[in-house]
Amino acid sequence: MSEQQKLYPVPSELAKTAWIDKEKYLSMYKESVENPEAFWAEQGKRIDWMKPYTKVKNTSFDSHNVDIRWFEDGTLNASVNCLDRHLEERGDEVAIIWEGDDPNEDKKVTYRELYHEVCRFANGLKKLGVKKGEVVTLYMPMVPEAAVAMLACARIGAIHSVVFGGFSPDAIASRVISSDSRVIITSDEGLRGGKQVPLKENVDEGLTNPKVKTVEHVVVLKRTGGDIAWHDDRDVWWHDLVKDAADECAPEEMKAEDPLFILFTSGSTGAPKGLKHTTGGYMVYASMTHQYIFDYHPGDVYWCTADVGWVTGHSYIVYGPLANGATTLMFEGVPSYPSHSRFGDIVDKHGVTILYTAPTAVRALMAQGDDVMGNTKRDSLRLLGSVGEPINPEAWQWYYDKIGNSKCPIVDTWWQTETGGILISPLPGATDLKPGSATLPFFGVQPALVDAEGKILEGATEGNLVILDSWPGQGRSIWGDHERFVQTYFSTYQGMYFTGDGCRRDDDGYYWITGRVDDVINVSGHRMGTAEVESAMVAHQAVAEAAVVGYPHDIKGQGIYVYVTLADGFDPSDDLKKELVQWVRKEIGPIASPDVVQFSPGLPKTRSGKIMRRILRKIAANETDGLGDTSTLADPSVVDDLIANRAIK
Ligand code: PRX
Repeated sequence: MSEQQKLYPVPSELAKTAWIDKEKYLSMYKESVENPEAFWAEQGKRIDWMKPYTKVKNTSFDSHNVDIRWFEDGTLNASVNCLDRHLEERGDEVAIIWEGDDPNEDKKVTYRELYHEVCRFANGLKKLGVKKGEVVTLYMPMVPEAAVAMLACARIGAIHSVVFGGFSPDAIASRVISSDSRVIITSDEGLRGGKQVPLKENVDEGLTNPKVKTVEHVVVLKRTGGDIAWHDDRDVWWHDLVKDAADECAPEEMKAEDPLFILFTSGSTGAPKGLKHTTGGYMVYASMTHQYIFDYHPGDVYWCTADVGWVTGHSYIVYGPLANGATTLMFEGVPSYPSHSRFGDIVDKHGVTILYTAPTAVRALMAQGDDVMGNTKRDSLRLLGSVGEPINPEAWQWYYDKIGNSKCPIVDTWWQTETGGILISPLPGATDLKPGSATLPFFGVQPALVDAEGKILEGATEGNLVILDSWPGQGRSIWGDHERFVQTYFSTYQGMYFTGDGCRRDDDGYYWITGRVDDVINVSGHRMGTAEVESAMVAHQAVAEAAVVGYPHDIKGQGIYVYVTLADGFDPSDDLKKELVQWVRKEIGPIASPDVVQFSPGLPKTRSGKIMRRILRKIAANETDGLGDTSTLADPSVVDDLIANRAIK
């Protein structure tokens, strides 16, 4: 029997204690789509409201009027839901377990400590004049202060924009420019895999961009104590800012639809866009999905290995778990340092019961061999999760056997920056698993598969994945560009949210995500627009033209394959290849490093000058037998040259 046909039934022990069993899933799901108003009116109560809502759902996917509002007349504060409301019952319980890059460094922060830290820092931000509604940019390492800064923004009604610590100075600058941030919060350096990451230096360099005009203050957390440049008129140490700050800070009363954060993500065209997430619906959805999908119970030690710079870190390290009063583990380092058994070491050290990671990490460990987990036992684990890209059945099986000791269900969670929370996933007490399938929709989520014309396809079939109606965690807009939001997600298929993903549905109604159908690639679970990499490439003087495609990569899922036509006066060489790779790392960040560069005298274009990416994708994937019709090309001989000089032999 192939892996894909194997079925892993819900373990009976788990079904007994799980929040949701099969029957409950079916009845709640039915209610959630047949009567969303009543369903979400009830579910919304899981959050503490300052003023309760009377309206529940007011949403339109009509491309002439995309407007999404949930619980719109209610008011609340996200940080109160993550902190204040837990103080009485579990103030002295651990909110955050922090595990440093160095295995000898760790720390536990209780809910009470976190509450006071957040209040102190919120008061510090107020001293800098931060006001409700303004965007504060964070560029932080994986330390508890990253969560503190996010929650402090939420407390005073500022909107945080977290920029992943692996992005380049240019990426910081462009995000600061599009959000008009006055304040940036960073750290002297980060630590990953024993190496320093020059965070403050990157911020300094980003701010030399003359188009950055708004930044008045850079708050710097001392993490490593490394040498950094200092601008007296602009820079302020975190510890100085909070020195005399009070450890109580009254929370701002926010409307449900006031923004909580923006988060930049890549699309198929143009520069990354800032997705806007609002407060009420997001909190309801993040906390509910966290509780049910990870079957979170008090006493669990929950670890999501993502970085707070991604949406997974927002919803499933910070907001979801903390809203639920959970213990959430935050890891500063990487799975391979100081050795490849680090994940197992951390699980054993802290008694982790729920582990949520990405297929790329699983595949990287798998490549080290079956005994990579060394002497670690991992007995405490009871549930595993996967996110960010399709998990191939082999990796699923290895994760199940070698990390989870063949006893932990795996929740393969499909979602996106835009969706705010998980949309398609097993519920561990309700869903029988098939390796490689994200299985079934969460409550309130109505997926459908459509053909190119937008016709809804029934039964077992394959098509483009759309969602037919709104759910509370959904992103509401693109910061400063609602029209782009409408164009990107609601104009391809009328009245539907288009995900950009292809998907198959089997006879049991299970969903199998097949990957992006647009010009977005997914490299190690990091989402990247091919257009972004191309525009970085052509900014180099040696490059006349560049085309970027994804190709299958054993560990990364997809690798980045770049075809380059050189400008006059430049000759192909290995040194130039290296230089171009370095160039992209500098322009965007290390995650965008091309894996393969192929020089080519020309690119396959139609007579109207459009690059035929389909052909480039096939050549990169070494599927040169099935190139299809090349007769419409302006110069078909280009293809022969590309095949003959394919960069991966
Ligand atoms: O292609 C899908 C893939 O990641 C994309 C979303 O990327 P991003 O916004 O960066 O969010 C990643 C973390 C939520 C999707 O369009 N993707 C995410 N999860 C899965 C997945 N593909 C297959 N299976 C998944 N579980």
